[in-house]
Amino acid sequence: MSTLFGLTFCVHTFGCQMNKHDSERISGMLEGLGATSVATIEEADIVVFMTCCVREAADVRLYGQVASLKNVALRPQTPLSKRIVAVGGCIGQRDGEKLTRDLPHLDVVFGTHNLGSLPALLMAAIDEGGHQVEVLDASSSFPTELPSSRELAWAAWLPITIGCDNFCSYCIVPYVRGREKSRPLEDIAAEASGYVAAGVKEITLLGQNVNSYGRDLYGAPRFADVLDVVDAAGIERLRFATSHPKDLTDEVIERFATLRSLQPALHLPVQSGSNRILAAMNRRYTREHYLGLIEKLRAACPDIALSTDVIVGFPGETAEDFEDTYRIVEEVGYHQVFTFIYSKREGTPAAQMVDDTPREVIQERFDRLVDLVQRKAFELNQPEAGRTVPVLVEGTSKRDASILMGKSPKNQTVHARIPQGVRIEDLAGTIVNVRVDEARTWYLSGEIA
Ligand code: SAH
Ligand code: SF4
Ligand code: F3S
Repeated sequence: MSTLFGLTFCVHTFGCQMNKHDSERISGMLEGLGATSVATIEEADIVVFMTCCVREAADVRLYGQVASLKNVALRPQTPLSKRIVAVGGCIGQRDGEKLTRDLPHLDVVFGTHNLGSLPALLMAAIDEGGHQVEVLDASSSFPTELPSSRELAWAAWLPITIGCDNFCSYCIVPYVRGREKSRPLEDIAAEASGYVAAGVKEITLLGQNVNSYGRDLYGAPRFADVLDVVDAAGIERLRFATSHPKDLTDEVIERFATLRSLQPALHLPVQSGSNRILAAMNRRYTREHYLGLIEKLRAACPDIALSTDVIVGFPGETAEDFEDTYRIVEEVGYHQVFTFIYSKREGTPAAQMVDDTPREVIQERFDRLVDLVQRKAFELNQPEAGRTVPVLVEGTSKRDASILMGKSPKNQTVHARIPQGVRIEDLAGTIVNVRVDEARTWYLSGEIA
């Protein structure tokens, strides 16, 4: 088989934006070979799982999902005698061959370094049967050299680095994504210009730590240079994720004041507010350094919306350590906080640390933190009531098809009634002004101005 004409596929994606972006590349490749994307497993001849191993029990869930596929009937018109099931992403990279021993009816396993091999592996599985497994130790090329099929026509993810060199002591990502590699500035500029020409309104630059961009490239271009070239390409809205506080420079902070396209929102993971725990996490910054960054960011862009990640219950976290975390979350004031309970990842340094805090104590800390996060998010949204904000429309609200849903510059979700006689298809991807009349914890609502 050398094409996939007549076949259907669906990709199920877990984990971070890096995986979501890889899934867009997979869809692009499979569509390029003639296959058609479908929404459900029932309709799909080929099912691809893009997996994540950061979250607890991710493998247990994956095993359950793959095993349950046995009971899903084939699509009536399928030319295949069986459904082809592939597992890729970070669990594929970590477990490789072992997955086919635990899940005998799995057909294909691939890793994070060889997305481009997936079509050949699928074709071999269709023609020859058996288990087709390929997991490589490192990437020879950037996945951006592969075609892409974007989830939203007007928003694009643009990877500028892959991999991670930071080895935070709890984190599995450096082991499943490999060493950090930067993409040449010219390639990034060319891709950004292509997106602008194609009508894309928003670009999100991606990397596990975008701030360390360029160290491995000739001439050592810096992340601020990337921001400048993408802004110069004429994009309407520019965002990036993720930033490591140890590498966020004054130069980048200043861009929040000077670059037209850079949106007033920043995700800056703090992980903990305790210097002792930050050191044990190998984060290489202190609470004081982090707060200093926040001060500079607010000086450059007074209305900036901040979001963060926090881990509760890291090995050895005491009541005082947690209070430090609680206080820093209160002091900074985040629009959004992604809260995680620490979970041990085999092979990481933290897995060797004494971890004896009772589960109930950690849960109680976690619940207190979540309460604070909600209270703060509600408070911080209140000044939006009465303001008019430009909203990039994504589609309708999940609950009500007469309400549009979009994003403000600060990345807040905004709802507004769709005007009589206007079709959502014509609004999606455009920027409309919404006068906010109510600010809730997780969204703003109002009327089109
Ligand atoms: N490169 C990004 C994202 C890494 S993973 C960054 O550095 O911010 C996303 C989040 O998952 C991390 O920020 C961390 O808060 C959380 N996380 C990672 N490993 C974890 C673990 N073992 N237990 C609990 N949370 C974890
Ligand atoms: Fe993991 Fe730290 Fe790298 Fe983020 S910076 S991916 S938390 S090792
Ligand atoms: Fe998960 Fe892999 Fe991203 S482990 S967080 S999908 S890099």
